[in-house]
Amino acid sequence: MDEDIIEDELSDGELDDTELPDGWDEGITDDGKVFYVCHLTRETQWSHPKTNRMRVLSKTLPQGWVKMEDGSFYDEVRKAGSTVDPRLLRAPKEADYIGFRERVTDDGSTVRMLKSTFKPTDTADDVLSGVKLDGKVAIVTGANSGLGYEVARSLAQHGTHVIMACRCLHKGHVARKRIIDEMPGCFVDVMEVDLASFQSIRLFVEDFKHKKLALHMLVCNAAVMGLAYQQTIDGIEAHFAVNYLSNFLLVKLLLPLMLESAPCRVVLVTSEAHWYPYLSSDTPPASVEALHPSAQDYWPTCAYNSSKLCLLLFMQELSTRHGSQGVFCNAVHPGNLLSTALGRHSLLLRLLQAMSWPFGRSPAQGAAVIAYCAAALDLEHVGGYYFVEHRIGSPSKLAKDQQLSSDLWEFSERLVAGLKSTSRK
Ligand SMILES: NC(=O)c1ccc[n+]([C@@H]2O[C@H](COP(=O)([O-])OP(=O)(O)OC[C@H]3O[C@@H](n4cnc5c(N)ncnc54)[C@H](OP(=O)(O)O)[C@@H]3O)[C@@H](O)[C@H]2O)c1
Repeated sequence: MDEDIIEDELSDGELDDTELPDGWDEGITDDGKVFYVCHLTRETQWSHPKTNRMRVLSKTLPQGWVKMEDGSFYDEVRKAGSTVDPRLLRAPKEADYIGFRERVTDDGSTVRMLKSTFKPTDTADDVLSGVKLDGKVAIVTGANSGLGYEVARSLAQHGTHVIMACRCLHKGHVARKRIIDEMPGCFVDVMEVDLASFQSIRLFVEDFKHKKLALHMLVCNAAVMGLAYQQTIDGIEAHFAVNYLSNFLLVKLLLPLMLESAPCRVVLVTSEAHWYPYLSSDTPPASVEALHPSAQDYWPTCAYNSSKLCLLLFMQELSTRHGSQGVFCNAVHPGNLLSTALGRHSLLLRLLQAMSWPFGRSPAQGAAVIAYCAAALDLEHVGGYYFVEHRIGSPSKLAKDQQLSSDLWEFSERLVAGLKSTSRK
């Protein structure tokens, strides 16, 4: 992951994808994605071998051109043929590029830039405007309320078959009805999952597999906040279990399907609060044990913050392990004090939410970055980033600790396998 990320727009003069290294060729899929082939290694990739940028062009041939049976192309207006797809004949334009671009700065360092950004006031619908998601399948956890509801609603309205993964079926069906009433005919199912129970997660995945669907987006959104110390049925502290470990188990169980359906995007809804996982700054020895709160020195806010740190560490490790196989994971902070039910267990948070409500951003605005990471074309094949509202952010130093993220993965493997005693009362 690159720390020196800035948002910018390149001028046309800076584009230089016209030259390919020796032995490389470019091609284009029927749906307009440009790919690059290396004749020496026989490998194919989506990004330009020199500039690393990705292009998506029109899905249709320019007017007058037809594809011949032998695979060549013919311009019926000019009465001329070409073996090259005419979409590749014109010079690249700014609008063709998706994702990130690299630029060498005056001091010789390389910075990566997000091509397009959206405004803080944009909603999930705004960022998905014009995006066609027909045929895509998404699971959204905690989809019955708050940000999860807004993401599910917007993905469904743009054509996605959405599985609303909810703890309470009744609440899920009420939320589903609201979505269907707004847009009859969209594909939305409700499925039950209690993320505080390994067994429930396993049953959910089994039931989902029975549907014989692909999986293109997994939005890990559900969370709890401000709970007094309590353990789940599996003996794990509740914030750690619901906010982090459940997502680890979901991804683990769904991974074969995600790899089959690749590219698949995983969006982890974290929080800026991950910067403050401990009661005092002198607490951390950065160890996984310290990330799983014990009953001693328990403070609900730290337990929540720590679970959000775990998500960032998970994002890093998942990207390292499976990014190259087409599973692209990003983590997002959707904003602060959005008016949702998150504060139901915390009087302080409810008060702060109430005070900030007239000036704050709406759940639909908070959901924008989640929808963006789940489905925006810009982020196709892009993973390993932390988005803070509408821009790329830098996570805390602990969140970038590679040893810690790899240790957390191993620790989590043992927990979900029931191999590790978890009671740290
Ligand atoms: N709101 C903010 O200001 C803010 C800021 C930063 C980050 N976030 C993050 O944004 C995400 C969405 O939160 P929100 O603000 O939309 O809060 P919310 O309205 O309280 O939504 C949380 C969702 O999680 C579900 N959930 C909780 N425990 C569950 C369990 N054991 N199994 C299955 N589902 C469970 C809830 O279901 P029930 O309705 O059944 O309880 C609810 O649907 C969370 O990850 C949160 O940490 C929010």
